[in-house]
Amino acid sequence: MGFSTRQIHAGVTPDPLTGSILTPIYQTTTYVQPSVDEYMTKGFTYSRSGNPTVRALELKLTDLEGGIDCSCFGTGMAAVQGVMLAFLNAGDHAVISDVAYGGTYRLCTKVLSRFGVEFTFADGSDPEAVAAAVRDNTKLFLTETPANPTMKCSDIAAISAIAKKAGAVHAVDNTFLTPYYQRPLEMGADMSIHSTTKYMDGHNATVGGAVISATAEHGDAVRFIQNSTGSIMSPQVAWLTLQGCKTLSLRMDQQSANAMAIAQFLEAHPKVEQVCYPGLESFAQHELAKRQASGYGAMLWFEVKGGLEAGKKLMDAVEIWSLAENLGSVESLITHPVTMTHADVEEAERARVGIIDGLVRLSAGLEDVEDLIDALDKALDQV
Ligand SMILES: Cc1ncc(COP(=O)(O)O)c(C=O)c1O
Repeated sequence: MGFSTRQIHAGVTPDPLTGSILTPIYQTTTYVQPSVDEYMTKGFTYSRSGNPTVRALELKLTDLEGGIDCSCFGTGMAAVQGVMLAFLNAGDHAVISDVAYGGTYRLCTKVLSRFGVEFTFADGSDPEAVAAAVRDNTKLFLTETPANPTMKCSDIAAISAIAKKAGAVHAVDNTFLTPYYQRPLEMGADMSIHSTTKYMDGHNATVGGAVISATAEHGDAVRFIQNSTGSIMSPQVAWLTLQGCKTLSLRMDQQSANAMAIAQFLEAHPKVEQVCYPGLESFAQHELAKRQASGYGAMLWFEVKGGLEAGKKLMDAVEIWSLAENLGSVESLITHPVTMTHADVEEAERARVGIIDGLVRLSAGLEDVEDLIDALDKALDQV
């Protein structure tokens, strides 16, 4: 069946007790067992180890990504951590995209490094640089593509092949494009990671995460960490995310069309120094973006002539666009990564990977695109 049919129906069946078309919020800690010998016959024992509402979302995401299993987490960062704890031990090494969400970089450099895990941040747009980073103890590759915030794209199939040769697992953070546009497991990756906070929810209502695995073995390894660390998603969050998923394809298409129109407007504006959107022909990995995904997504960035000071003026002046951390929601958001989402990445590292001070990140929402463009136009007038 097609994606839009599956995003509505996969994982969900009418409630057997009442016929409720929506999976109920199973707000419970525990599940009464019929007898000691018939333990877990209904599949649930205790809500840290599994909850029917959360399970419905896990089944839906498994279907949408074309995987075998999924574990949902309390946040996207808990999902990233779940993968790292499942596949890395003290003394191991991991190769991470050199541009990634600031929280992923912080988890590697400030938390897991304390437990004897080593990291190399390699240029994912250059498979040779990724291959050159491999060591005897490399156990995990994590690719974020397109990357937050520079939008750098990495070749998923090429990195999956490098990981296989190295005997390591390959996880892809697929938050920016979602399985509607990009399916890493079909390109050879072992796992797809999401901050469901973004497009899966889509309404700025929740924080959550998910890891979808291509094999039962990897799925079990991630679920073991989810249960052992207690990094679970709540039934309320799962319920809201289940509703959000039902309109994913519609939102992605419209938000991406809005992003394209905004990128074209900015590219032609005399006060704009540069615009970066995978759908523009001027984008460095435009051909790769076109080849490995069926859409370009709704994230872009630009730099105003005059750099940081001009960018700050614009962000303070602009209407409709809310100055906030997050992305992927129906509300359009404007963000300054250097002081917000990537503030914990050291200045030298930011400079190395192209997170420039004047970078203004946009998450195109679902408002009328004429209004979004008009608001940016008026703010640019004030710069
Ligand atoms: C690409 C990406 N991965 C992971 C995360 C972390 O997700 P969360 O904020 O839900 O923990 C984010 C958050 O912005 C992100 O942009």
